[in-house]
Order: sequence, then C-alpha cells, then structure tokens
Amino acid sequence: MSERKNVTLSAEEVAKQKAIIEQIYQINDAYYRQCGIRKKAFVETYGCQQNVSDSEILAGMLSSMGYELSDSKDEADFVIYNTCAVRENAELKVYGNLGALKHKKAKQPGLVIGVCGCMMQQKEVADTIRRKYKHVDLVFGTHSLYYFPSLLKQVLDDSSRVVDVRDTDGAIAEDYPVVRTGGPCAWVSVMYGCNNFCSYCIVPYVRGRERSRDKDAVLAEIRLLAKDGYKEVTLLGQNVNSYGKDRGDGYDFADLLSDVCKIDGIERIRFMTSHPKDISDKLIDTMAENPKICKQLHLPVQAGNNRVLKVMNRRYTKESYLEKIEKIKKKMPDITLTTDIIVGFPGETKDEFEDTLDVLRKVRYDTIFSFIYSKRAGTPAATMEDVLTSEEKKECFDRLLEVQDEISLEKNEALRGKVMKVLVEGTSKTDENVLSGRTEGGKIVNFEGNSKYIGEFADVEITDVRTWSLIGKIIE
Ligand code: 5AD
Ligand code: SF4
Repeated sequence: MSERKNVTLSAEEVAKQKAIIEQIYQINDAYYRQCGIRKKAFVETYGCQQNVSDSEILAGMLSSMGYELSDSKDEADFVIYNTCAVRENAELKVYGNLGALKHKKAKQPGLVIGVCGCMMQQKEVADTIRRKYKHVDLVFGTHSLYYFPSLLKQVLDDSSRVVDVRDTDGAIAEDYPVVRTGGPCAWVSVMYGCNNFCSYCIVPYVRGRERSRDKDAVLAEIRLLAKDGYKEVTLLGQNVNSYGKDRGDGYDFADLLSDVCKIDGIERIRFMTSHPKDISDKLIDTMAENPKICKQLHLPVQAGNNRVLKVMNRRYTKESYLEKIEKIKKKMPDITLTTDIIVGFPGETKDEFEDTLDVLRKVRYDTIFSFIYSKRAGTPAATMEDVLTSEEKKECFDRLLEVQDEISLEKNEALRGKVMKVLVEGTSKTDENVLSGRTEGGKIVNFEGNSKYIGEFADVEITDVRTWSLIGKIIE
C-alpha cells in the first residue's frame, strides 16, 4: 500500500494554492477598480469528459482569481487550451490555434497564453511548444493541474515562460473551486489514469496509473451538488469498473453507485467509461436494481475480430463481449447501449472488419462513436504494419456509419409516440425557443416549451425522430 502515500495532495499544498488564488484575485480586483473592467479568461477544451471535468476546475480557479470567463478568445487576457492526445486531429487543431495567437500576442503584449492537458505529457510535444511557439507563456501537463495557481503566478510575476510537465502520477486534490457547465447535470471524476495499455492508446502514458478518489470525498461532493440543485451526476473515469482496486479496502464501483443512489435530490446517475473485461455481475445487478441508475451503458468494443482484439490487448473476445451484452439486455431490456469503434487498426483486413459490422448488427447499439485509427508515437501499435490503404480505411469507415445510421434510426423510430421523462438541460443550440434535454437513455430530445422547465423534468411525447435525436411535444 506504500504506493498510495502521495495519492492525495496535502492539506498544506491545497492551502498554499488557494492562498495564491487569493493573491491573484487581489491583483485582478485592483485592476478592475482602476479600469472598471474585469480581466477575461478563455478556456477551450479538447477530448473526453475527463478533460471537460478538468477544465471545470481550471475555470473554477480562474473565476476565483477574479477573471471573468469569456466565450470569446478575441477579448481574452488569458487564453488556455486543455488538450487531448488520443488522436492526431485534435493535436493539429491545437497547434493551429496556438499559431494563430501569435498575432494577437503581438498586438496585445499583456496577453497570457497557456496550454495544458494530455498533449503536454508527451515530451516531444512540450519540447516543440518550447522551441517553436515562443509566444506561449505557460505549459503544464495533466499531473500539474492542481499547481496551476502557482504556475500562473510565476508567469504574472516574472513575465517568464513556465513549463511544468511531471512524470510522476498526479496527486488527487479535493475541495478546489469548480465552475460547472452542464446545467442540472454534473460530472464527477471518481478515478484518474488507466492501467490497461490497449496497444493503440496513449492515455496510460499521459494520464498515468489508476488512482481512485476517496469514497467519502466523492459522496460529500455529490451531496453538495444535490444541495445546489443538481439532479443528475455522471461518474467519470477512464475505466470506472476498476474504481477502488488501488485502495485495497474491498469497496468497489458497484458499492459506490449504491451509495450515490442513497443521496436525496440526485435522481439520475450515469457513469463512463466501462471496460468490457471488467464489467461484473455485481455491477449489472446494481444497475438493474436501482431505479436512479440510468439504464444506459457505454461499452467500447473497438473491434469485432478476435485476432484484432488480441493485438489491441483488449483481453476479451467477440463472443465473451456479446455474452456480456446478452446478460445486460436480459436484466435491462430497455437499456440504451453505445460503443467506441476503431477502424483501420494496423493489420486489420477487410474480412476482419466484417466482424465489427457483425457486432453492430448483433448488439444494435443506439449510437456509436467511431474513429479511424490514429498512430500514437510510443504505443505498441505505432510500429505495426498496415494492410489497408487510407482509401480502404475510409471506405470501411463509411460502411460502418451506413450500417449504424440505419440501426440508430430504427431504434429511435421505435420510440415514436412514447411519452418519455426528459431532464431539460437548456435551449437547443440552433433555436432559442426550443428546449433540449435527455431521456434516461441519454438521447437528446428537442421540443418547444417554456424556459421555466430548464433544470426540471418534463414529460415529452416523441412526435418525430432523427438519427441522432428525438423531437417531441411537452405534456403539461
Ligand atoms: N486512434 C483512434 N482512436 C483511438 N481511441 C483511442 N486511441 C485511439 C487511436 N490511437 C479511441 C478509442 C477510445 C476512444 C476514447 O478513443 O475508441 O475508446
Ligand atoms: Fe485507452 Fe484502453 Fe485505457 Fe481506454 S482502457 S483509456 S482505450 S488504454
């Protein structure tokens, strides 16, 4: 158990960081009293919900420092990108955005530019930023998030560049300020890191080993959320089914879910991501027995062929995956199922890809999240040879979408005419008069209605369906 020593940031360190937040607040407040305008901060997030959750803490710290959070980087005094390293596309966007800020910095020398998150945990990326993006003031990795106040203070005091990328697994800190962005739904990280080392994935290298938060800290946070009026929580982790294993006290993820169910005011509980090899009967039973746990499961299959799954180091077979799905469907017939798929993994042939399509047809997911394989330096798959050309991979990808879109639409079609309980999150992105919320299964429903329903549950009859969303009429 010696490994656990540094899992939680010491109370003294947290107090030190909070004192620095206060010092920066004093500086920013003095500026406000002098000029009548607040300094503005812009935070842009790439990648998974874990990053969204980290950005909510970043935004919490910035807000406590007296920055006004802004949606526009043009008017910002502090710009920060919280980056993702899972695929190359997201990395290229970050480089593009950082490049474009060079002009802004030339016109606005006081601008502070930061970049953080998973990309920065890769040595060659941090080095590239250091060498080629000299206008970037602050670089830090995932393990340094909780030291952000002292890092920013160093930049503000010395006008010097600060780079903090640690190799050691980051400690977990409790009780930091958070600015949440999900309406009545809150994200709560329960564990960090991943021990699985799927051969294509960079996450274990940039996020470190699995570290679970203390259950009492998680439950206390959720009790506070309930008190603040939040109705839904999503428990987050790269592999939530491993929750607690590193703590060695026998308290597991199913136990945590059961305890979250006991919190009054929280009416919906979701979680992600689950690894198929770790999903236990106990967890399935806990889900089935607790009405508060949404009957929704994201269970990434990645590929359908057993040879490919083996080389991916997924540690299950197509058959054992499908068996688990059957068990889940038997216990929860109305469950909404989603998955992640990688197309064009090195060595995957067209025939092997057919097995992925077969899984889609057998499981009949509601939605899939599909990606063309992206080579990540340092992972075992990076040195493996391709069989398919880029064009062939694209053809497979398009076929995958074609097969799935039909299934998604059919599954949504089956909901036409049903009355569903929707937690209203806000107005639709495209029309202010349209409300948008989610069903228990996590499907988006758009419907006309009074804004008084935002943050509340509404009964909505499904009147029309799309591939990705439902359209409804409120029953008042
Ligand atoms: N290329 C493409 N997709 C990837 N994912 C992880 N690593 C890669 C990669 N190198 C996908 C997996 C995972 C999701 C979060 O991202 O499907 O489940
Ligand atoms: Fe990556 Fe696999 Fe860990 Fe998921 S389980 S984060 S795909 S290594």
